[in-house]
Amino acid sequence: MKFFVDSADVDAIREIAGNGLIDGVTTNPSFVACSGRPIKELIAEICSVVDGPVSAEVAATSTEEMVREGRILGSVAPNVAVKVPLTWEGLKACNVLTTEGFMVNVTLCFSANQALMAAKAGATFVSPFVGRLDDLNIDGLDLIAEIRAIFDNYDALETEILCASVRTPNHVKQVALIGADIVTLPPEVLPTLVSHPLTDKGLAAFLADWEKGGQTIEE
Ligand code: E4P
Repeated sequence: MKFFVDSADVDAIREIAGNGLIDGVTTNPSFVACSGRPIKELIAEICSVVDGPVSAEVAATSTEEMVREGRILGSVAPNVAVKVPLTWEGLKACNVLTTEGFMVNVTLCFSANQALMAAKAGATFVSPFVGRLDDLNIDGLDLIAEIRAIFDNYDALETEILCASVRTPNHVKQVALIGADIVTLPPEVLPTLVSHPLTDKGLAAFLADWEKGGQTIEE
């Protein structure tokens, strides 16, 4: 499973990318607005930090305008994935942009039929939102399982499942068990996948014993 970072915070992205742990980035209009920076400049900088796909979202709602904005964003760097919303107009824009050779991430997916339609429109990625369904007392993980099952039924559906709105370590484990292709995580969730009290306790005991032994490791 590939790991993307869900953020437009360049410092946080740079720090995580330096660990070699991530395969891409997803941004959204809220993150970009919060950064206070012009979108093209911001996306160009993120693309220079990360080799993999960097999603940059259009703000228009008509097909024609989404295609226009998508061409602009998609030309910022070769690793930009143009992000469009999962609407009828967005799917038409997805089809045009993918035909022109751009990667497209169809976002705001909340049903299996929506995901199927995104795949039919040629999306590179479809982004089902796990946490926002959980917020409504609907199990977001069920949606990931449904989409995985549908995509696995048809070899021609090559769209990757990019699990978004992932907020907890348990979400990560469950979508990995289901077989999602990608998970996008807020930067602060990534370290929680590593921490375990028994690891900390065990390390402390090993180091205490080591110190008592008085050895050092040298050439
Ligand atoms: C996806 O691309 C979105 O940026 C994101 O995952 C939304 O997460 P949220 O529901 O926690 O805001």
